[in-house]
Amino acid sequence: MMLKMNKIVVSPSILSADFADFGSAVSQIDLSGAEWIHMDVMDGSFVPNLTFGPPLISALRSRTKAIFDVHLMTVNPRHLIKDFADAGANLISFHYEAEENIKENLEYIRSLGLKAGIAIAPSTSYNVLEEALPFLDLVLIMTVNPGYGGQILIPECLEKAEKLAKMRENLNLNFRISVDGGINEQTAEQAIKAGADTLVIGSAFFGNPDKKGLVSRLQGN
Ligand code: DX5
Ligand code: ZN
Repeated sequence: MMLKMNKIVVSPSILSADFADFGSAVSQIDLSGAEWIHMDVMDGSFVPNLTFGPPLISALRSRTKAIFDVHLMTVNPRHLIKDFADAGANLISFHYEAEENIKENLEYIRSLGLKAGIAIAPSTSYNVLEEALPFLDLVLIMTVNPGYGGQILIPECLEKAEKLAKMRENLNLNFRISVDGGINEQTAEQAIKAGADTLVIGSAFFGNPDKKGLVSRLQGN
């Protein structure tokens, strides 16, 4: 049976941008034709690395109409959500491993008018999401260990996309399936084959001089 497939969305991650010039990173993303911007929020606790918070997001908000795809790699994500919503996030994903009240948290994000996602680290099974699937808009499958850009994709993680795409079909749901970490043109092809429809891409985006060509090929044009 052919599974239903969403249109491919490319979400460049500003974690790989020049931290001295996020404004230019946003313009580069807009000019590339990508419609989303992935923002990796790290708290130095859930992951060892530390990045940025709501002030950066609100500073960038007036620069672009792109969807702000915020990936919280933080402990206690719940208490940060309102600030990110006020700053201009459109979609907030938090880690399954960091939150006990999954369903309440998803409903809270949606109650603020945002899309809600859950991220799972490579060691977390797709199975744990079964009950939450009707309450979410996106599953973010981490295809590297969270914390840093520029790592190599762990191929075993792609099986989760396949399983989740089947569950989505069986349950007649329509959440997006995102892959994050080690995505480049080659691994994107494997991820899409497995069932991913949303591609987070950091180092392979900012390292490519032809961003427009890259995005267009990733989108399947
Ligand atoms: C890693 C982040 C990723 C990162 C991906 O913890 O969640 O979003 O920016 O970067 P690349 O594409 O370089 O693996
Ligand atoms: Zn991310």
